Amino acid sequence: MTHATHDALLTEAQLSLSATRSVAELESWHVQYFGREQGVLTGLLRAIPSLPPKERGTVGKAINQAKQTLELLYQKRAQQLQHEAIAAQLVRERTDVTLPARRPFKGSIHPVMATRDELVELFAYYGFTVAEGPEVEDDWHNFTALNTAADHPARDAQDTFYLQSDGPLAKCLLRTQTSSVQIRAMMAQTPPLRLIMPGRVYRRDDVTRRHYPIFHQLEALMVEPGTHFGHLKGLLTSLCRSLFGEARPVRFRPSFFPFTEPSCEVDVGCPFCAGQGCGTCSHSGWIELGGAGMVHPNVLQAVGYDPSVITGLAFGMGIDRVAMIRYGVNDIRHLWENDDRFLRQF
Ligand code: DAH
Repeated sequence: MTHATHDALLTEAQLSLSATRSVAELESWHVQYFGREQGVLTGLLRAIPSLPPKERGTVGKAINQAKQTLELLYQKRAQQLQHEAIAAQLVRERTDVTLPARRPFKGSIHPVMATRDELVELFAYYGFTVAEGPEVEDDWHNFTALNTAADHPARDAQDTFYLQSDGPLAKCLLRTQTSSVQIRAMMAQTPPLRLIMPGRVYRRDDVTRRHYPIFHQLEALMVEPGTHFGHLKGLLTSLCRSLFGEARPVRFRPSFFPFTEPSCEVDVGCPFCAGQGCGTCSHSGWIELGGAGMVHPNVLQAVGYDPSVITGLAFGMGIDRVAMIRYGVNDIRHLWENDDRFLRQF
């Protein structure tokens, strides 16, 4: 082997080595030069015995040198390729630590509770403060004191869940209306009174788009000398405007409640059909918000007030109804089913 061929071989091996792009290519390069059977260098070494004896020493030395050089270069290239592979993997699998984390849903304020809080805030402007009463109520507070004697037909419309037929809880029931809190509040305080009483109520009711056996009411009571129906109408109209906007029609419809005289019901135009009639409003174009009236003299008497000097107004509205209208919920069941897809919207 001459010096020139030796150089040419080295150059060619180096060039093809640096052209390798992967570990697989590198290995086949190694086989090409160092392979036991067909390797270029192995072949050259094997050919030494057939050279003229005086050439053998130099040629052998040259080949071994070339072998050493190439082996070193091979190791270097292997390291390089490994680094490149790691760098490429890092780029491929790069984590963008600046991306915002995916946080678990922490829950949100339920639309009924949000509506209740808004109502409490609105009423505060008119000087009303919050009073509360028990959900397990007795018959007297829930009915009798509200001018609804045991045989009064109005009880039929408010069948409820009774705790026991006899024993200490015999006369206890799940309250059907927050009006029971009116009685408790009037007995505990003296006029003038301006109170709102939000809470859960229960009825034996079939489930429909607007009815559910558990719902929320907000009772309002104002007992002051000189209170008249004009105050009631003004207060409710102004409240509806704040809640639903100036454009939403409000209607007062004569009605009957044992504990008010005169009595009315308050409706607002159905937002789901713009008053045209739809499944949610039972094709009436109106959604009933609640009942209202002037506190009946018998009720004032039952709590020890003198109806000849004091008058009061009262109303009770469904908080769930208000929430449905405000948030465009066309079925009350959504408010109770705890479907995450619904609740996440609030
Ligand atoms: N308690 C009545 C009901 O649940 C609603 C109601 C009507 C409340 C008239 C009142 C009222 O305070 O004055 O149907």
